[in-house]
Formats: sequence, structure tokens, C-alpha cells
Amino acid sequence: MDSDYLIEPLSSHHDRAAFCCGVEALDRYLQKQASQDARKYIAAPYVLFDKNSNVVIGYYTLCGTNIIAEELPTEIAKKLPRYPMVPATLLGRLAVDKNYRGKRLGEDLLMDALYRSFLHAKNVASMAVVVDAKDNKARSFYEHYDFIRFPDQPNRLFLPMFTIVKMFE
Ligand SMILES: CC(C)(COP(=O)(O)OP(=O)(O)OC[C@H]1O[C@@H](n2cnc3c(N)ncnc32)[C@H](O)[C@@H]1OP(=O)(O)O)[C@@H](O)C(=O)NCCC(=O)NCCS
Repeated sequence: MDSDYLIEPLSSHHDRAAFCCGVEALDRYLQKQASQDARKYIAAPYVLFDKNSNVVIGYYTLCGTNIIAEELPTEIAKKLPRYPMVPATLLGRLAVDKNYRGKRLGEDLLMDALYRSFLHAKNVASMAVVVDAKDNKARSFYEHYDFIRFPDQPNRLFLPMFTIVKMFE
């Protein structure tokens, strides 16, 4: 990542006014909703920004979620204890400003999100990072990084914490 860029929790000095990723709901969320969600502990938004200008170039959010164990692929579910639900981390949103696409910033954000999820899981258990891809393009981005589809929900994918641990240990 460019040394002028940093990723940190969203705060009031980050300039989000011009952020445009091409998906209006994701732009609006960052501009109007993200700070409130952070204050209320509904979601933790992280921004990739230029530290010279404070302009936000990309962001993602994390929060806790559950996976219904029987919705997992059978070969994974059968290795788990027989709990109806298992804990996971939801990567709720991830977006890069359209003027900065193709510079590996989406990858930087994703790796940062996986790393924070990995650190967090050491203290509060989480067996996977889950994403809800909004369309086929988003789904193919996550599949590029080995996310696995839930068998009956093709736009919902997960990356097992065992895989993430191997990436960072
Ligand atoms: C998806 C998104 C975050 C990718 O960001 P980006 O900064 O342009 O992507 P990167 O430059 O980091 O790409 C890294 C790798 O992913 C690949 N990639 C990027 N978008 C991809 C897609 N839609 N499908 C498959 N692969 C993709 C790149 O080709 C590159 O591959 P390589 O490792 O072989 O070189 C960006 O297009 C975006 O913000 N889209 C709109 C919002 C969105 O759909 N978010 C995702 C779900 S909410």
C-alpha cells in the first residue's frame, strides 16, 4: 500500500464527502450512517484514507454474526460440535472509490479486515468471516480470495478462521 495511505477506525477527521464507489447504498452508508453505527456499537467501520488530505479512498465494516450450522457445507458442518449456531464475523461492506480501482486497495482492505478478524477471534471466538455479496461481481471478488459459497445461498460466502489463521501465523 502507498505509504501516504493508512487504514484505521472511522473518526470525525476522515473526509468522506466525495467518496464514490459506484454503489449508491455503500456511498450513502459511509457518509450518513457509519459514524452512528460505530457510536452505537452496531458495526465497526474502518477507512483507508490519504493521511495528507484525510480523504477516504475505501472502507469496510465488521460486526459479529451467527452461522446456522446446518447451512454450512456438509464436510465442514460434520467436523463441528452439534450446536445449532456457531459464531462468526460479518464483513458487512467493503468498497473502494472508483477513481482508485485496480491498485490493490480492495485487497489491502480485505487483508486488513481478515487480520483484524483473526486478532479478535483470539479473544472472542469466531469460526469464519462471512460476506453477503451484493451481486455476481462482488461474489467473484471474494471467490478470488477463496471464500466458499453457502450451498443454498450463493451470494453468502465465508472464509473459515482456520484458513485465515494460516494466512497470518
Ligand atoms: C470489489 C472492489 C472492492 C475491488 O477493489 P479494487 O481495489 O479495484 O481491487 P484490487 O485492485 O484490490 O484487486 C485485487 C485482485 O482482485 C481482483 N478483482 C477485483 N475485482 C474483482 C471482481 N469483481 N471479481 C474477481 N476478481 C476481482 C483483481 O483482478 C486483482 O486480481 P489479481 O490478484 O489476480 O491481480 C471494488 O471494485 C468495489 O469497491 N466495488 C464496488 C463495491 C463492491 O462491490 N463491494 C464488494 C461487496 S460489498
